[in-house]
Amino acid sequence: MAAPGGSGPIGPFPEGVSGPEAEADYDKLRRRVLWSFPYGLYVLGSRDGERRNGMTINWVTQVSFDPKLVGVGVEKTAFTHELVAAGGVFSVNTISREDRAIVRKFTKPVEVDAAAMTLNGFPFHDGASGAPILDQAPAYVDCAVRQAVDCGGHTFFVGEVVDAGFQHAEDTEVLRMEDTRMSYGG
Ligand SMILES: Cc1cc2nc3c(=O)[nH]c(=O)nc-3n(C[C@H](O)[C@H](O)[C@H](O)COP(=O)(O)O)c2cc1C
Repeated sequence: MAAPGGSGPIGPFPEGVSGPEAEADYDKLRRRVLWSFPYGLYVLGSRDGERRNGMTINWVTQVSFDPKLVGVGVEKTAFTHELVAAGGVFSVNTISREDRAIVRKFTKPVEVDAAAMTLNGFPFHDGASGAPILDQAPAYVDCAVRQAVDCGGHTFFVGEVVDAGFQHAEDTEVLRMEDTRMSYGG
């Protein structure tokens, strides 16, 4: 899961980079630089009314101490985008290193069993904001959207933490991008 292909090199280009070949080379180099950024891996919970989703995401970061704000970069084409934009809430769930297989299970809209309270078979409960929180997440933050920054192909949703907690041992090792062979970005 990398950058969307087929669009050709994306500018701007530094001085001295001109012509299709140089632009393509720079495009590839810039992508490798961006892929070298270290990231965590999370499941983003979203909800609008009775519609819920969970999505694998690495573009997650705290952006302010006071207020406590966390930002997430979400593709405009994702179902999650529709739910976060409409519902105004999201949860960020950390994943135990031992549960790395979970990453592949949340890359398209999930099957929700509202009676059994499962997302793709994984038990969840609704957080304070209403967003779903995976029972097996070592930790979570539950957020209310305060800003939505248009970033082109993605929206950066900035949420205020309205609840947070550990659900398992606090020292549980959590999943990072380098634990997988995947990359996203570039
Ligand atoms: C390792 C990995 C990291 C990802 N990181 C992001 C991300 O930061 N933002 C994002 O919008 N999609 C990310 N995705 C893609 C989404 O998981 C998902 O495929 C897509 O956005 C559709 O989600 P939906 O179920 O909401 O439609 C990532 C996928 C993988 C496999």
